[in-house]
Amino acid sequence: MRTLKKAAGPLTGSVLIPGDKSISHRAVMFGAIAQGTTRIRHFLSGADCLSTIDCFRRLGIEIELKLEQNGQVLVHGKGLRGLCAPDPMQLDTGNSGTTTRILSGILAPQSFSCILSGDESINRRPMKRVMEPLSLMGASIESMNGSGCAPLLIRGKNLQGISYRSPVASAQVKSAILCAGLYADGETRVTEPARSRDHTERMLASFGASLTCSSEHADFTGAYTAAIRPARELYAQDIVVPGDISSAAYFIAAALMIPQSRVLVRGVGINPTRAGFLTAVEKMGAQLTYYACSDNPDTSGALLGHNLSEALDALSNTPGEPACDLLVNSSRLHGITIEGSIIPALIDEIPILAVLAACAEGETVIRDAAELKVKESDRIASVTENLRAMGVEADPAPDGMIIAGRHSDGPAFHGGLIHTCADHRIAMSFAVAALAAEGDTVLDDADCVSISYPAFFADLEALL
Ligand code: S3P
Repeated sequence: MRTLKKAAGPLTGSVLIPGDKSISHRAVMFGAIAQGTTRIRHFLSGADCLSTIDCFRRLGIEIELKLEQNGQVLVHGKGLRGLCAPDPMQLDTGNSGTTTRILSGILAPQSFSCILSGDESINRRPMKRVMEPLSLMGASIESMNGSGCAPLLIRGKNLQGISYRSPVASAQVKSAILCAGLYADGETRVTEPARSRDHTERMLASFGASLTCSSEHADFTGAYTAAIRPARELYAQDIVVPGDISSAAYFIAAALMIPQSRVLVRGVGINPTRAGFLTAVEKMGAQLTYYACSDNPDTSGALLGHNLSEALDALSNTPGEPACDLLVNSSRLHGITIEGSIIPALIDEIPILAVLAACAEGETVIRDAAELKVKESDRIASVTENLRAMGVEADPAPDGMIIAGRHSDGPAFHGGLIHTCADHRIAMSFAVAALAAEGDTVLDDADCVSISYPAFFADLEALL
């Protein structure tokens, strides 16, 4: 339990954003199945990524954590066929959907069997979405209690390439299939209805995999296909993990909401398949200025632009994942409609967008986001119920929600009891709402922030 108070004044200062969760997971996974030592810097040492490390150690990979040295992790990879059977055979994926689903794709083509299981929340989340395509490739993957959820018993088999049309835009599903495709006979193609985050495609290509990607439309709206050829080997890389835009979103939102705030959010990854939050807040009226990352002595402090697309243009020749420093000034926001192909690029930021919507003038409508129901909590329910507990008019819908927005200049929220549902993103979103609330706000469980951002409260307090 944690009690939070209204911010006494504007937020000022700067915050260095911890490493991206999705990229940290992948760096360990691909490093483990590559030949040689992969050096990862600015690794996210949140509980989810530590679950991935733990699983790969149990699969026989030596991984050194030197986190005090610039968040460094060394993964001593053993090549595509170097993993060995864990003993006992059960691997614990904790609270991590990314670990459970992508690891299924890596384990399905191995020459041994094992069981993937996690905490209560993981063992309730849908796994058929990976079981189905992997089974079509020839995998033996079974939900042990028949629920379509973990624990999953995976018996290693030879796989064949497939052409798969995924019903959901999910990077975890796409990544599981692409990883299995590394080991399959022939090409593997996966098409998703809208483009989800492409960290796997970018990183696997840098490790030497042969991949091609194509979109239905040039602006990346509509269906998207990634195809992979079987690999002989992958090769170790040096990876610098950019700051996680999903973590940055809480500080950006807090600075936008609290009058007269001015905060520099440093080292944020702005991969366009992830940065939908920035597009959305710009549409709501946010004043953002993009600068080159201050830790790059060559370009430090150079202005990149006043919106996301200018910044991405300015960074278009930079290799790897684009990142920047973002200066956020408090702004008057108005409600918008968020729907369609942008949803996968901001799916994890919808809880904090909903909090911002409550401070905006006019209604915000979120549609096409039924995936929210199968995240760490049912986020349609957990967001709207907690907004209501803080006095906000918020209505759930089958594929999203409607938030009424503010009617006056008075406080958008009153304090209340927040049920975080052990969901890290609900805890952090409502901790931000608490800063603008009249009266105290109590989070029933705040420790869950350690899943993706162990130092969240300390970093937030440093700006107050
Ligand atoms: C992730 C993909 C998304 C996201 C999750 C991390 C990833 O999930 O919500 O937090 O690292 O690939 P889905 O693939 O289920 O959309």
